[in-house]
Amino acid sequence: MAKLTIKDLDLQDKRVLVRVDFNVPLEDGRVTDNTRIRAALPTIEYLLDHGARVILMSHLGRPKGKVKEELRLNPVARELEGLLRRPVHKVNDCIGPEVEAAAAALQPGEVLLLENLRFHPEEEKNDPGFARQLAGLADIYVNDAFGAAHRAHASTEGVAYYLPAAAGFLLQKEIETLGRALADPERPFVAIIGGAKVSDKISVIRNLLGKVDTLIIGGGMANTFLKAQGHVMGKSLVEEDQVPLAQELIELAAQKGVKLLLPRDLVVAREFKADAPHQVVAVNAVPNDWMALDIGPETARAYAGALSGARTVVWNGPMGVFEMEAFAHGTEVVARAVAAVDGMTIVGGGDSVAAVEKMGVAGKIKHISTGGGASLEFLEGKALPGVVALAEK
Ligand code: 3PG
Repeated sequence: MAKLTIKDLDLQDKRVLVRVDFNVPLEDGRVTDNTRIRAALPTIEYLLDHGARVILMSHLGRPKGKVKEELRLNPVARELEGLLRRPVHKVNDCIGPEVEAAAAALQPGEVLLLENLRFHPEEEKNDPGFARQLAGLADIYVNDAFGAAHRAHASTEGVAYYLPAAAGFLLQKEIETLGRALADPERPFVAIIGGAKVSDKISVIRNLLGKVDTLIIGGGMANTFLKAQGHVMGKSLVEEDQVPLAQELIELAAQKGVKLLLPRDLVVAREFKADAPHQVVAVNAVPNDWMALDIGPETARAYAGALSGARTVVWNGPMGVFEMEAFAHGTEVVARAVAAVDGMTIVGGGDSVAAVEKMGVAGKIKHISTGGGASLEFLEGKALPGVVALAEK
């Protein structure tokens, strides 16, 4: 990695301000999935072992610049204490006299967690004054929040201008793993792109068409491609304004010699409901008042077949409405097929990660990204502001 990392720094006695992505799900004041907190532990533990005073900061949810009691980071502090097996001091703001005093009192080997950064509108505005106040708490800035690295906010970007700025281990691992897969993949390289809307994923598809051997399309977005091929899609979600673009992407794939796989059959339902009547039909036989909610079994088999010999796989987005049992089959088959791949497998995006977890195959995926939007922007080939701002080695 060309950027400075925590291994390049003398940390003894230093106050280190670490941006982490502790944007985790909460229920009744408890953390229900601590994956992102666990993913930050290697960096936090390394800093503590090397005599640093660790000041952690994160956003949680989208409070839009206002204090929201239910979005305080207290449950996160408790969860982190359990994982670190040491006390975590917590303050009720992220700037101001109380915070400055707590940061000043911090001893080497101690941890302080600041309050939700997004309680201040200046965070998302990347306000330089706010960034300078955050920077004033410490001697060194570390960004380990891969999940927020696509945001140019004060804590992810602005603060890097006021302190020596280095990457943490999680950020480094995500960038190196995703970067290697895109730049120098072992082949065949297969990407699976799903999800509801093609408009959300156009740039990813375009970028991947220059890199992969096979591109598999599923989920609601496949309907727009099928429409572009001339199929009648009934009541299915189709983004009419994206049909010409889907056509263009089909042509681009052909020009580049990329195998573009689209559904051959679909599970269609009368309504968008878990218990709606449903049936399997060929893509050229979608009844007028029915809607596609999953890829069909023949398609799922073909997609699994295309994955079987792959050496690099990137997956983002489910194949159907997998939260409803009747429309989960396609996503399940793909999840198992990805898990069975011997080579490098990368899964990103909340829904696909939830799918491999639901299937119980998450342990078999070589890299589960902690970034949804961030991994998508990386796959689009975009520079991530939170990474760009860090110092070069
Ligand atoms: C995420 O959950 O993807 C990150 O924490 C970023 O959150 P945001 O989309 O609210 O910026």
